[in-house]
Amino acid sequence: MKTDQDSRAQQVHIETFGCQMNQYDSELVRSLLKARGFTLTEDKEQADVILMNTCAIREHAHNRVYGHLAELKAIKRQRNLVVGVLGCMAQNLKTELIETEPIVDILVGPDSYRRLPDLISKALESQGQDNTQPGIAVDLSEYETYGDIMPERAEGVNAWIAVMRGCDNFCTFCVVPYTRGRERSRDPEGILHEAKLLLQQGYKQITLLGQNVNSYRFDDWDFARLITAVGDLAGIERVRFTSPHPKDFPPTLLDAVASHPKVCKHIHLPLQCGNDRILKLMNRTYSVKEYLALVDAIRQRRADIALTTDLICGFCTETEEEFLDTYRTVQDVGYHSAFVFKYSERKHTIAARKHPDNVPERVKADRVTRLVDLQKSISLQKNRELVGSTLPVLVEGDARKSSMQWMGRTDSTLTVVWEKRASPTRPGDLIPVHITRVSATTLFGEETTPR
Ligand code: SAH
Ligand code: SF4
Ligand code: F3S
Repeated sequence: MKTDQDSRAQQVHIETFGCQMNQYDSELVRSLLKARGFTLTEDKEQADVILMNTCAIREHAHNRVYGHLAELKAIKRQRNLVVGVLGCMAQNLKTELIETEPIVDILVGPDSYRRLPDLISKALESQGQDNTQPGIAVDLSEYETYGDIMPERAEGVNAWIAVMRGCDNFCTFCVVPYTRGRERSRDPEGILHEAKLLLQQGYKQITLLGQNVNSYRFDDWDFARLITAVGDLAGIERVRFTSPHPKDFPPTLLDAVASHPKVCKHIHLPLQCGNDRILKLMNRTYSVKEYLALVDAIRQRRADIALTTDLICGFCTETEEEFLDTYRTVQDVGYHSAFVFKYSERKHTIAARKHPDNVPERVKADRVTRLVDLQKSISLQKNRELVGSTLPVLVEGDARKSSMQWMGRTDSTLTVVWEKRASPTRPGDLIPVHITRVSATTLFGEETTPR
């Protein structure tokens, strides 16, 4: 006999952890599931299936997922529920995750999402039966780009397009080459076609994504050519990109960023650390001198390009003196902002196999605090220089703290907040905002011209 649950479309809830690529992958998964007749729900209580798209980059990311699995265990005791783990943690831990977490019914890595709808159907069918085997798809692919799938995107001002996937760099601390596999780029024709559709749908900004986005290569297309072509599309206000690697920054790309009016004047340039011995241990393939030469070239080309970075504290064998090299490099460069991380040893990485994770936890934490404090003071000083200026801001929506205020971003990706007025301002508008005061993280201002 059919139950109430069988007669309606099965409802799937997706929770996403990790980077923008994971957010994008969840949009791909939504599209794949909808095409197969599943309904997506924001409401966990209603869901027949709960999927977690997971991140493996640091221990903290793992712990969050284990916390959620514990919650789902309690729900599963009370009612039928299929639990799926997707993404980087699924790929990295594979069957080990199923052994330690028997409530997991489905395990699917980032290159196997086409198999997900079938695995969900099977898991739903075999619910309640004895000895059911979990559905597992964790093959990595050298070709999969999901180029033919239009992601089911959230409404808003920005749309992401993954232009390449995977990473061949094997930085010794990093799990991504193992969870995302080899680099592969998507055909530019498909990217430009999708971008055009998105602009017709009303998106104003396109962010080109890749684990190593500036390694993009397809026939005679490189990343500089691609970003220029996207910036040239009719109706686009802004193009952004993330994350580039400093090793792939030819003058043509700098030219595209500096001179194309639609390409944002912002480069995220992960330094990781400011000491040559540690950079070598990390296999970052540049020296501090080479990195600083690139920073100089960027600044000479256009002083108003904002630089942001990622930093790791307490990598294997890092001494206090070596940490101070990072501290001084951060002072020298003067980033707009920085993400600062404690080194977290990851399974399978080269560092986990070859180098001792021997910097004590409290030393790592202390180094993070010192760098964060330094960066805060630099960000505040840079933001103060903007008080009194009027900047073009792309309106994104209501401010987080109050629906009486708008939130938007400058070209250089700074967050701006201002009072709503009786004006026709709407999300997606590019408007001038006069900056009146600042904090280390936010600019506050007012709309100037009545329109
Ligand atoms: N592909 C991108 C980003 C990768 S992950 C890039 O190369 O820039 C984002 C950041 O996480 C990295 O830049 C690095 O700073 C940090 N990270 C990666 N692995 C880490 C680890 N094992 N411990 C601490 N931080 C890590
Ligand atoms: Fe990880 Fe390095 Fe690849 Fe970035 S470039 S994803 S840090 S291996
Ligand atoms: Fe995490 Fe995978 Fe992104 S490890 S940071 S979700 S590529």
